[in-house]
Amino acid sequence: MAEAHDRPPEQFNLRLRRYDPESGEAPYWDEHSVELAPHRSVLEAILQARDRFDGSIGIRCSCRQAICGSCGIRVNGEPALACHTHLDAAKAASADGVIEIEPMGNMPVVKDLIVDMDAVHWKKIQRVTPWLLAKQPVPEREYIVEKEAMVDVTQSMACIQCGACVSDCLAMEVDPGFIGPAALAKAYRFVGDPRDDEQFERLNDLAQDPQGIFDCTHCFKCVEACPKGVNPMGQIMRLRRIAIDDHHIVDVNNGERHEAAFTGLIKDHGLLWEAELLPRSYGGNSWFGKLHPAAGKELLSSLPAIVKALLRRKVTPMGALKAHNLPPADLKSVQAIYDKVEGREKRYELNLYIVGEDEEPAPPGEAVAAAAAVSEEPGGADVPTTSVEGSAP
Ligand code: SF4
Ligand code: SF4
Ligand code: FES
Repeated sequence: MAEAHDRPPEQFNLRLRRYDPESGEAPYWDEHSVELAPHRSVLEAILQARDRFDGSIGIRCSCRQAICGSCGIRVNGEPALACHTHLDAAKAASADGVIEIEPMGNMPVVKDLIVDMDAVHWKKIQRVTPWLLAKQPVPEREYIVEKEAMVDVTQSMACIQCGACVSDCLAMEVDPGFIGPAALAKAYRFVGDPRDDEQFERLNDLAQDPQGIFDCTHCFKCVEACPKGVNPMGQIMRLRRIAIDDHHIVDVNNGERHEAAFTGLIKDHGLLWEAELLPRSYGGNSWFGKLHPAAGKELLSSLPAIVKALLRRKVTPMGALKAHNLPPADLKSVQAIYDKVEGREKRYELNLYIVGEDEEPAPPGEAVAAAAAVSEEPGGADVPTTSVEGSAP
Protein backbone atom coordinates (compact mmCIF):
# COMPACT_ATOMS: atom_id res chain seq x y z
CA MET A 1 0.00 0.00 0.00
CA ALA A 2 1.31 3.45 -0.95
CA GLU A 3 2.49 5.62 1.95
CA ALA A 4 0.49 8.81 2.47
CA HIS A 5 3.32 10.95 1.08
CA ASP A 6 3.45 8.82 -2.13
CA ARG A 7 -0.13 9.55 -3.09
CA PRO A 8 -0.42 11.34 -6.45
CA PRO A 9 -1.82 14.86 -6.70
CA GLU A 10 -5.56 15.28 -7.12
CA GLN A 11 -7.71 18.22 -8.02
CA PHE A 12 -9.35 20.10 -5.15
CA ASN A 13 -11.83 22.92 -5.56
CA LEU A 14 -11.74 25.82 -3.15
CA ARG A 15 -14.42 28.42 -2.49
CA LEU A 16 -12.75 31.40 -0.82
CA ARG A 17 -14.49 34.25 0.97
CA ARG A 18 -12.95 37.46 -0.32
CA TYR A 19 -13.36 40.87 1.26
CA ASP A 20 -11.34 44.04 1.24
CA PRO A 21 -12.97 46.61 3.59
CA GLU A 22 -10.90 49.39 2.02
CA SER A 23 -12.37 48.74 -1.44
CA GLY A 24 -15.89 49.65 -0.33
CA GLU A 25 -17.20 46.53 -2.11
CA ALA A 26 -19.25 43.80 -0.49
CA PRO A 27 -17.71 40.38 0.35
CA TYR A 28 -17.94 37.77 -2.41
CA TRP A 29 -16.98 34.14 -3.12
CA ASP A 30 -14.07 33.25 -5.36
CA GLU A 31 -13.40 29.72 -6.72
CA HIS A 32 -10.09 28.11 -7.67
CA SER A 33 -8.94 24.57 -8.46
CA VAL A 34 -5.59 23.37 -7.18
CA GLU A 35 -3.62 20.15 -7.59
CA LEU A 36 -2.06 18.61 -4.53
CA ALA A 37 -1.72 15.23 -2.85
CA PRO A 38 -4.74 14.60 -0.58
CA HIS A 39 -2.68 14.57 2.62
CA ARG A 40 -1.43 18.12 1.97
CA SER A 41 -3.00 20.94 3.94
CA VAL A 42 -5.70 23.47 3.19
CA LEU A 43 -3.05 26.13 3.80
CA GLU A 44 -0.89 24.72 1.00
CA ALA A 45 -3.93 24.76 -1.29
CA ILE A 46 -4.62 28.44 -0.50
CA LEU A 47 -0.98 29.32 -1.08
CA GLN A 48 -1.00 27.45 -4.39
CA ALA A 49 -4.12 29.34 -5.48
CA ARG A 50 -2.41 32.59 -4.51
CA ASP A 51 0.80 31.71 -6.37
CA ARG A 52 -0.90 30.46 -9.53
CA PHE A 53 -4.08 32.48 -9.93
CA ASP A 54 -4.40 35.53 -7.70
CA GLY A 55 -1.56 37.10 -5.75
CA SER A 56 -3.99 39.33 -3.87
CA ILE A 57 -5.53 36.53 -1.73
CA GLY A 58 -4.95 37.52 1.90
CA ILE A 59 -3.93 34.71 4.31
CA ARG A 60 -1.70 34.81 7.40
CA CYS A 61 0.64 31.94 8.22
CA SER A 62 4.08 31.25 9.58
CA CYS A 63 5.16 27.89 11.02
CA ARG A 64 2.95 25.60 8.89
CA GLN A 65 3.17 23.07 11.72
CA ALA A 66 0.25 23.93 14.00
CA ILE A 67 2.53 25.73 16.42
CA CYS A 68 2.38 29.48 15.82
CA GLY A 69 -1.43 29.80 15.72
CA SER A 70 -1.44 32.35 12.91
CA CYS A 71 -3.41 30.47 10.20
CA GLY A 72 -6.78 30.25 11.96
CA ILE A 73 -9.67 30.20 9.46
CA ARG A 74 -13.05 28.51 9.00
CA VAL A 75 -13.17 25.42 6.80
CA ASN A 76 -16.69 24.34 5.78
CA GLY A 77 -18.06 26.57 8.54
CA GLU A 78 -15.90 25.09 11.31
CA PRO A 79 -12.92 26.82 12.93
CA ALA A 80 -9.60 25.20 12.02
CA LEU A 81 -5.90 25.75 11.55
CA ALA A 82 -5.37 25.85 7.77
CA CYS A 83 -1.99 24.12 8.11
CA HIS A 84 -3.45 21.37 10.28
CA THR A 85 -6.38 20.41 8.04
CA HIS A 86 -5.84 17.77 5.37
CA LEU A 87 -7.38 18.39 1.97
CA ASP A 88 -9.03 14.96 1.72
CA ALA A 89 -10.70 15.39 5.12
CA ALA A 90 -11.83 18.93 4.24
CA LYS A 91 -13.32 17.74 0.94
CA ALA A 92 -15.11 14.85 2.65
CA ALA A 93 -16.61 17.27 5.17
CA SER A 94 -17.80 19.75 2.53
CA ALA A 95 -21.44 19.96 1.48
CA ASP A 96 -20.83 19.74 -2.27
CA GLY A 97 -17.24 18.63 -2.79
CA VAL A 98 -15.96 22.22 -2.80
CA ILE A 99 -13.91 23.19 0.26
CA GLU A 100 -15.40 26.38 1.67
CA ILE A 101 -12.89 28.71 3.30
CA GLU A 102 -13.77 31.82 5.33
CA PRO A 103 -12.14 34.10 7.87
CA MET A 104 -12.69 33.43 11.58
CA GLY A 105 -15.78 34.90 13.25
CA ASN A 106 -16.21 37.41 16.08
CA MET A 107 -13.25 39.46 14.80
CA PRO A 108 -13.25 42.18 12.12
CA VAL A 109 -11.81 41.18 8.75
CA VAL A 110 -8.64 43.02 7.73
CA LYS A 111 -8.56 41.38 4.31
CA ASP A 112 -9.95 38.08 2.95
CA LEU A 113 -8.90 35.40 5.48
CA ILE A 114 -6.99 37.74 7.79
CA VAL A 115 -8.83 38.99 10.87
CA ASP A 116 -7.85 41.71 13.31
CA MET A 117 -6.57 39.71 16.28
CA ASP A 118 -5.39 42.89 18.04
CA ALA A 119 -8.86 44.39 18.13
CA VAL A 120 -10.43 41.42 19.89
CA HIS A 121 -8.26 38.48 20.87
CA TRP A 122 -5.14 40.22 22.14
CA LYS A 123 -7.15 43.00 23.77
CA LYS A 124 -8.96 40.39 25.84
CA ILE A 125 -5.76 38.55 26.70
CA GLN A 126 -4.34 41.83 28.04
CA ARG A 127 -7.48 42.23 30.15
CA VAL A 128 -6.60 39.24 32.37
CA THR A 129 -3.08 40.41 33.38
CA PRO A 130 -1.36 37.60 31.48
CA TRP A 131 1.78 37.41 33.55
CA LEU A 132 2.81 36.05 36.92
CA LEU A 133 2.43 38.39 39.88
CA ALA A 134 5.17 36.83 41.93
CA LYS A 135 4.44 35.67 45.46
CA GLN A 136 6.37 37.72 48.01
CA PRO A 137 9.00 37.51 49.27
CA VAL A 138 10.64 36.32 46.09
CA PRO A 139 12.99 33.47 47.05
CA GLU A 140 16.70 33.99 46.59
CA ARG A 141 16.78 31.01 44.26
CA GLU A 142 13.82 29.31 42.54
CA TYR A 143 10.29 28.80 43.90
CA ILE A 144 9.72 25.21 44.93
CA VAL A 145 6.27 24.07 43.83
CA GLU A 146 4.58 20.71 43.81
CA LYS A 147 4.82 18.88 40.51
CA GLU A 148 1.06 18.30 40.47
CA ALA A 149 0.43 22.04 40.60
CA MET A 150 2.30 22.52 37.36
CA VAL A 151 0.59 19.52 35.76
CA ASP A 152 -2.63 21.29 36.64
CA VAL A 153 -1.82 24.37 34.53
CA THR A 154 -0.27 22.46 31.62
CA GLN A 155 -3.53 22.33 29.72
CA SER A 156 -3.99 26.10 29.67
CA MET A 157 -0.30 26.52 28.81
CA ALA A 158 -0.86 24.48 25.62
CA CYS A 159 -2.75 27.39 24.05
CA ILE A 160 -1.16 28.69 20.83
CA GLN A 161 -3.35 31.83 20.71
CA CYS A 162 -4.92 30.91 17.40
CA GLY A 163 -8.30 32.48 18.24
CA ALA A 164 -10.37 29.51 17.02
CA CYS A 165 -12.32 29.40 20.29
CA VAL A 166 -12.95 33.15 20.14
CA SER A 167 -14.18 32.76 16.57
CA ASP A 168 -16.90 30.32 17.62
CA CYS A 169 -17.86 31.57 21.08
CA LEU A 170 -21.64 31.98 21.17
CA ALA A 171 -21.56 34.27 24.21
CA MET A 172 -19.17 36.64 22.40
CA GLU A 173 -21.47 36.68 19.40
CA VAL A 174 -24.24 38.06 21.63
CA ASP A 175 -22.00 40.07 23.95
CA PRO A 176 -18.75 41.13 22.21
CA GLY A 177 -17.54 42.50 25.55
CA PHE A 178 -17.36 39.00 27.10
CA ILE A 179 -13.77 38.33 28.10
CA GLY A 180 -14.01 35.09 26.17
CA PRO A 181 -12.62 31.56 26.21
CA ALA A 182 -8.98 32.14 25.25
CA ALA A 183 -8.41 34.96 27.74
CA LEU A 184 -10.16 33.11 30.56
CA ALA A 185 -8.13 29.97 29.85
CA LYS A 186 -5.07 32.22 30.10
CA ALA A 187 -6.39 33.58 33.41
CA TYR A 188 -6.53 30.03 34.78
CA ARG A 189 -2.91 29.57 33.82
CA PHE A 190 -2.01 32.11 36.55
CA VAL A 191 -4.86 31.48 38.99
CA GLY A 192 -3.77 27.85 39.12
CA ASP A 193 -0.08 28.69 39.53
CA PRO A 194 0.99 28.47 43.19
CA ARG A 195 3.71 31.08 42.57
CA ASP A 196 1.12 33.76 41.81
CA ASP A 197 0.35 36.16 44.65
CA GLU A 198 -3.08 37.40 43.56
CA GLN A 199 -5.36 34.43 43.19
CA PHE A 200 -8.21 36.04 45.14
CA GLU A 201 -7.83 39.44 43.43
CA ARG A 202 -7.79 37.87 39.97
CA LEU A 203 -10.87 35.73 40.70
CA ASN A 204 -12.79 38.52 42.36
CA ASP A 205 -12.10 40.78 39.39
CA LEU A 206 -13.26 38.14 36.88
CA ALA A 207 -16.34 37.26 38.96
CA GLN A 208 -17.51 40.83 39.54
CA ASP A 209 -17.05 41.78 35.88
CA PRO A 210 -20.49 41.36 34.22
CA GLN A 211 -18.63 40.07 31.17
CA GLY A 212 -16.39 37.76 33.17
CA ILE A 213 -16.53 34.11 34.25
CA PHE A 214 -20.30 34.05 34.73
CA ASP A 215 -20.99 35.29 31.21
CA CYS A 216 -20.10 31.90 29.67
CA THR A 217 -23.14 29.88 28.61
CA HIS A 218 -21.54 26.38 28.65
CA CYS A 219 -22.15 25.89 24.94
CA PHE A 220 -19.01 23.73 24.44
CA LYS A 221 -18.18 25.49 21.15
CA CYS A 222 -14.73 26.51 22.36
CA VAL A 223 -14.01 22.95 23.50
CA GLU A 224 -14.81 21.62 20.02
CA ALA A 225 -12.98 24.44 18.24
CA CYS A 226 -9.64 24.24 20.05
CA PRO A 227 -6.97 22.43 18.01
CA LYS A 228 -4.80 21.94 21.09
CA GLY A 229 -7.25 20.42 23.55
CA VAL A 230 -7.06 23.38 25.91
CA ASN A 231 -10.72 22.97 26.88
CA PRO A 232 -11.32 26.67 27.58
CA MET A 233 -14.80 26.05 29.00
CA GLY A 234 -13.30 23.58 31.47
CA GLN A 235 -10.82 26.25 32.60
CA ILE A 236 -13.67 28.73 33.08
CA MET A 237 -15.56 26.21 35.22
CA ARG A 238 -12.43 25.68 37.30
CA LEU A 239 -12.10 29.44 37.80
CA ARG A 240 -15.70 29.47 39.02
CA ARG A 241 -15.19 26.55 41.38
CA ILE A 242 -12.14 28.12 42.99
CA ALA A 243 -13.89 31.50 43.22
CA ILE A 244 -17.01 30.04 44.82
CA ASP A 245 -15.75 27.08 46.87
CA ASP A 246 -12.34 28.31 48.00
CA HIS A 247 -12.82 32.07 48.22
CA HIS A 248 -16.60 32.22 48.76
CA ILE A 249 -16.87 35.09 46.29
CA VAL A 250 -20.45 36.27 45.84
CA ASP A 251 -20.61 38.33 42.68
CA VAL A 252 -22.81 41.32 41.93
CA ASN A 253 -23.99 39.64 38.73
CA ASN A 254 -25.82 36.91 40.64
CA GLY A 255 -23.74 34.30 38.83
CA GLU A 256 -22.82 32.37 41.97
CA ARG A 257 -26.45 32.26 43.19
CA HIS A 258 -27.70 31.32 39.73
CA GLU A 259 -25.29 28.38 39.62
CA ALA A 260 -26.37 27.29 43.11
CA ALA A 261 -30.05 27.54 42.08
CA PHE A 262 -29.37 25.47 38.98
CA THR A 263 -27.57 22.64 40.77
CA GLY A 264 -30.07 22.81 43.66
CA LEU A 265 -33.03 22.32 41.30
CA ILE A 266 -31.42 19.31 39.66
CA LYS A 267 -30.75 17.86 43.11
CA ASP A 268 -34.35 18.40 44.24
CA HIS A 269 -36.17 17.44 41.04
CA GLY A 270 -33.68 15.66 38.79
CA LEU A 271 -34.65 18.06 35.99
CA LEU A 272 -34.33 21.76 35.39
CA TRP A 273 -37.49 23.63 36.34
CA GLU A 274 -37.10 26.95 34.53
CA ALA A 275 -39.99 28.76 36.25
CA GLU A 276 -38.32 28.19 39.62
CA LEU A 277 -34.82 29.05 38.45
CA LEU A 278 -35.22 32.81 38.54
CA PRO A 279 -36.77 33.14 42.02
CA ARG A 280 -34.24 30.71 43.47
CA SER A 281 -31.39 32.57 41.81
CA TYR A 282 -32.35 35.61 43.86
CA GLY A 283 -33.77 34.17 47.02
CA GLY A 284 -32.50 30.63 47.39
CA ASN A 285 -35.08 28.18 48.67
CA SER A 286 -36.87 30.63 50.96
CA TRP A 287 -40.29 32.01 50.11
CA PHE A 288 -39.22 35.49 51.15
CA GLY A 289 -36.40 35.26 48.69
CA LYS A 290 -38.84 34.79 45.86
CA LEU A 291 -40.19 38.25 46.63
CA HIS A 292 -36.74 39.78 46.29
CA PRO A 293 -37.13 43.08 44.32
CA ALA A 294 -34.26 42.14 42.02
CA ALA A 295 -36.12 38.93 41.08
CA GLY A 296 -39.21 40.99 40.14
CA LYS A 297 -37.07 43.35 38.07
CA GLU A 298 -35.44 40.45 36.25
CA LEU A 299 -38.82 38.82 35.68
CA LEU A 300 -40.16 42.04 34.16
CA SER A 301 -37.18 42.32 31.81
CA SER A 302 -37.70 38.67 30.77
CA LEU A 303 -41.42 39.16 30.05
CA PRO A 304 -41.04 39.70 26.28
CA ALA A 305 -39.12 36.41 25.95
CA ILE A 306 -41.67 34.60 28.13
CA VAL A 307 -44.61 35.95 26.11
CA LYS A 308 -42.88 34.98 22.86
CA ALA A 309 -42.29 31.43 24.13
CA LEU A 310 -45.95 31.16 25.19
CA LEU A 311 -47.23 32.49 21.86
CA ARG A 312 -45.03 30.05 19.94
CA ARG A 313 -46.25 27.25 22.22
CA LYS A 314 -42.74 26.40 23.28
CA VAL A 315 -44.11 26.38 26.83
CA THR A 316 -47.59 26.27 28.31
CA PRO A 317 -48.46 28.10 31.56
CA MET A 318 -49.21 24.81 33.33
CA GLY A 319 -46.13 23.13 31.90
CA ALA A 320 -43.95 25.98 33.16
CA LEU A 321 -45.47 26.29 36.63
CA LYS A 322 -45.73 22.58 37.43
CA ALA A 323 -42.55 21.13 38.91
CA HIS A 324 -40.52 19.03 36.48
CA ASN A 325 -39.70 15.79 38.25
CA LEU A 326 -37.81 12.63 37.38
CA PRO A 327 -39.43 9.34 38.42
CA PRO A 328 -38.55 8.68 42.10
CA ALA A 329 -36.07 5.83 41.41
CA ASP A 330 -34.13 7.95 38.88
CA LEU A 331 -34.20 10.97 41.19
CA LYS A 332 -32.69 8.83 43.92
CA SER A 333 -29.82 7.89 41.60
CA VAL A 334 -29.20 11.56 40.80
CA GLN A 335 -29.24 12.46 44.47
CA ALA A 336 -26.79 9.64 45.21
CA ILE A 337 -24.30 11.38 42.88
CA TYR A 338 -24.74 14.63 44.82
CA ASP A 339 -24.29 12.82 48.13
CA LYS A 340 -21.08 11.24 46.91
CA VAL A 341 -19.62 14.45 45.51
CA GLU A 342 -20.73 16.67 48.41
CA GLY A 343 -19.63 14.07 50.97
CA ARG A 344 -15.99 14.35 49.96
CA GLU A 345 -13.66 16.12 52.28
CA LYS A 346 -11.89 17.81 49.42
CA ARG A 347 -12.86 18.90 45.92
CA TYR A 348 -11.14 16.87 43.22
CA GLU A 349 -9.62 18.66 40.28
CA LEU A 350 -8.32 16.02 37.96
CA ASN A 351 -6.80 17.76 34.98
CA LEU A 352 -5.70 15.02 32.64
CA TYR A 353 -3.86 16.96 30.02
CA ILE A 354 -0.91 14.68 29.79
CA VAL A 355 -0.04 13.84 26.22
CA GLY A 356 2.86 11.83 24.85
CA GLU A 357 4.76 8.65 25.51
CA ASP A 358 7.13 7.94 28.36
CA GLU A 359 10.45 6.78 26.94
CA GLU A 360 10.47 3.84 29.31
CA PRO A 361 7.38 2.47 30.99
CA ALA A 362 7.35 3.86 34.50
CA PRO A 363 6.80 1.54 37.48
CA PRO A 364 3.03 1.24 38.09
CA GLY A 365 3.00 3.28 41.31
CA GLU A 366 5.04 6.10 39.81
CA ALA A 367 3.10 6.11 36.54
CA VAL A 368 -0.03 7.36 38.18
CA ALA A 369 1.58 9.54 40.79
CA ALA A 370 0.79 12.90 39.24
CA ALA A 371 -2.83 12.16 38.55
CA ALA A 372 -3.37 10.41 41.85
CA ALA A 373 -1.86 13.21 43.83
CA VAL A 374 -4.22 15.66 42.18
CA SER A 375 -7.31 13.48 42.47
CA GLU A 376 -6.72 11.77 45.79
CA GLU A 377 -9.68 9.64 44.83
CA PRO A 378 -9.54 6.22 46.47
CA GLY A 379 -9.22 3.82 43.58
CA GLY A 380 -9.35 6.74 41.17
CA ALA A 381 -5.65 6.64 40.43
CA ASP A 382 -6.01 4.13 37.65
CA VAL A 383 -5.16 6.67 35.00
CA PRO A 384 -2.72 6.12 32.13
CA THR A 385 0.03 8.70 31.77
CA THR A 386 0.06 8.53 28.00
CA SER A 387 -2.27 9.95 25.38
CA VAL A 388 -4.75 11.31 27.84
CA GLU A 389 -6.55 14.53 27.04
CA GLY A 390 -9.29 16.45 28.75
CA SER A 391 -10.23 17.24 32.29
CA ALA A 392 -12.56 15.63 34.71
CA PRO A 393 -15.45 17.69 36.06
S1 SF4 B 1 -18.49 27.44 26.49
FE1 SF4 B 1 -18.51 29.58 27.16
S2 SF4 B 1 -16.53 30.42 26.54
FE2 SF4 B 1 -16.83 28.48 25.44
S3 SF4 B 1 -17.68 29.08 23.47
FE3 SF4 B 1 -19.43 28.62 24.82
S4 SF4 B 1 -19.96 30.58 25.79
FE4 SF4 B 1 -17.93 30.83 24.86
S1 SF4 C 1 -7.64 27.96 23.69
FE1 SF4 C 1 -7.33 26.66 21.89
S2 SF4 C 1 -8.63 27.57 20.32
FE2 SF4 C 1 -8.42 29.09 21.92
S3 SF4 C 1 -6.72 30.38 21.28
FE3 SF4 C 1 -5.87 28.76 22.60
S4 SF4 C 1 -5.27 27.12 21.21
FE4 SF4 C 1 -6.59 28.46 20.05
S1 FES D 1 0.97 28.36 10.15
FE1 FES D 1 1.46 28.20 12.26
S2 FES D 1 -0.23 27.25 13.10
FE2 FES D 1 -0.64 27.18 10.99
